Amino acid sequence: MFYGSFSKEQRDKFSRSLDLFVEMFDVMHAYDNLIALRRTTGFKYDATFRAAFDPNVSDKQEKSLMWRIHTLIWAAEHCINVEGDFVECSVLRGFSMAIVADFLRFERLDRQMYLYDTYTGTPPEYNSENRNLAAYVKMGDLYDYVLERFNRYSNIHPIKGTVPDSFTGTLPDKISFCHIDMNSAKSEIAALEHIFDRVTPGGIIVFDDYGWVDYKAQKDAEDAFMAERGHTILESPTGQGILIKHA
Ligand SMILES: C[S@@+](CC[C@H](N)C(=O)[O-])C[C@H]1O[C@@H](n2cnc3c(N)ncnc32)[C@H](O)[C@@H]1O
Repeated sequence: MFYGSFSKEQRDKFSRSLDLFVEMFDVMHAYDNLIALRRTTGFKYDATFRAAFDPNVSDKQEKSLMWRIHTLIWAAEHCINVEGDFVECSVLRGFSMAIVADFLRFERLDRQMYLYDTYTGTPPEYNSENRNLAAYVKMGDLYDYVLERFNRYSNIHPIKGTVPDSFTGTLPDKISFCHIDMNSAKSEIAALEHIFDRVTPGGIIVFDDYGWVDYKAQKDAEDAFMAERGHTILESPTGQGILIKHA
């Protein structure tokens, strides 16, 4: 359940600790670097949630993101009652928004959803944390895959290009829901400079990596950005940051 590289001895020790937690607390959720004891995790048992989540999951890592997806669905359901369209920066294979769209039955909504990504990985000029981008280079071009994944929705638009340049002529004037997940402080702030003023009061921005130690540069930059605008971001135990825009 933990990212990172650990020895077999450490993994065995950890696994025994988890067994001890279950023995002591009976109810445990241990996924995605989060150990929660004696929580209801009601989303796991919600048939509508599972009908959207399960068919979109392709491996254990995606399955581990269930609580983060629950957060996104909560935010998206709220935002269909707020004026504006839906935006995601960025998309990769479209995992998160495919579940949100299936859950909301997005095709029946009078809303548009815009899915921004290069679909070939982080542009080197936006690699503000000097990460090893080899994984993204290996991933090839995902644009056709994502077009196919969303092709049954006439109101969902994958947009290929570098954020924020790709916003030109496509970014909606009013946004109710935004998911920001670019793993790059420079990309995320560049996106926010265009997005924030377009978010309708009552609208929500979810930051995927906000509370993760490895992405602290994003938190620092986003906290400063929001402080200048009189807003604060809630740090969730999932590592996500949640912002509700006020007037
Ligand atoms: C963690 S992945 C997104 C995962 C996705 N939200 C999901 O739910 O599976 C990060 C993505 O950000 C994209 N990215 C980073 N900086 C970008 C930029 N400035 N413009 C466009 N895409 C960018 C990368 O191509 C990569 O696909």
